[in-house]
Amino acid sequence: MTTTDYALLDSQMRALLADESDPLAAASNFVALLYNAIDDINWLGLYVLRDDELVLGPFQGKPACVRIALGDGVCGTAAASRQTQRVADVHAFPGHIACDPDSRSELVVPLICNDELLGVLDIDSPSTRRFSAVDQNGVETLCRSFCRMQETRKYFI
Ligand code: SME
Repeated sequence: MTTTDYALLDSQMRALLADESDPLAAASNFVALLYNAIDDINWLGLYVLRDDELVLGPFQGKPACVRIALGDGVCGTAAASRQTQRVADVHAFPGHIACDPDSRSELVVPLICNDELLGVLDIDSPSTRRFSAVDQNGVETLCRSFCRMQETRKYFI
């Protein structure tokens, strides 16, 4: 497995999204860029907060669960607590929602703009203990950059 250069990925992301004003196009390219730049993952995508529920947004990977209640699973826990969830073994996480049976570890980062929760970024890996503290910091930085860029658009997605 190669380590991800998150600083490089952040500058690539800013360059890729800078000239596009449509938030859905920007979000779609955001997830595609990350999915192809991060090794050893089988799913990466957004769940967007809609009326107190997380709803599936742009993603890469197999078809997934569409709606997740706040507090449910890894995604709903990250959203409800506004805290990143870095799960070394999803089978040991109470209430984990298995969308893709290949997933073994998971990193979920809340997307917060101007103190408002807009959704989460969810990354699944087929390997246990895939995500390190370095991955968590790198992905959190990417999410903050992405949120700041989306602030300038009419909608988040
Ligand atoms: N495992 C997640 C559900 C989403 S899928 O992994 C794409 C969860 O427990 O919230």
